[in-house]
Amino acid sequence: MIKLAPSILSADFANLGQDIQMIDQAGCDYIHIDVMDGMFVPNISLGVPVIKRVREYTDKVFDVHLMIEEPSRYIEAFKNAGADIITVHAEACKHLHRVVSLIKSYGIKAGVSLNPATPISVIEYVIDQLDMVLVMSVNPGFGGQAFIPSALHKINALRDVICGRGLTCDIEVDGGVTLDNVKSIVDAGANVIVAGSAIFNCDDVEKRIKAFRDAAE
Ligand code: DX5
Ligand code: ZN
Repeated sequence: MIKLAPSILSADFANLGQDIQMIDQAGCDYIHIDVMDGMFVPNISLGVPVIKRVREYTDKVFDVHLMIEEPSRYIEAFKNAGADIITVHAEACKHLHRVVSLIKSYGIKAGVSLNPATPISVIEYVIDQLDMVLVMSVNPGFGGQAFIPSALHKINALRDVICGRGLTCDIEVDGGVTLDNVKSIVDAGANVIVAGSAIFNCDDVEKRIKAFRDAAE
């Protein structure tokens, strides 16, 4: 069974609470929240106060994707805002092992994300501590970009590592996921699917979420 995590980066920020309730009622699994600092990525999105406020609109899992430099500075704040899973970028952490341990110390799930050009080897010595690896299939920073095909090979190789070492961590894929490519992504080994524009840019979100589940089978 895959988990669907709509990215609210493509939601209507003027009606964020309603949009979150809409994807909640439409049957999503996680709410994927993209935090951008204008340094690690060339865009600024939203932060702790917004997450704290929209936490009141749903009980779904808050899957917080931190695209920020040295995220260790803010783990406690995002945890207190209501994050259930915190994912940091390997490229943004000088001491990745320490950051992962910090996230776990708060009793929440820890993920590490890899940019398209980053090899799997950078997580070799932390993967056994992780609940999730997030494979970026676009260069992070913006919604609506095209899927980078080499991500499929990375997902496949990562699935081999996880199975080979008897681990249970999830593989999440983020960026350019559509109804047309979701099957190949799941077949490669991903089990948590992020989609922003492909979920929010449609007339019937409930139908679209069902279509994603059908297409992924
Ligand atoms: C990109 C973000 C994604 C983004 C995905 O940096 O991490 O979560 O919202 O948007 P789509 O699905 O439109 O590529
Ligand atoms: Zn994301």
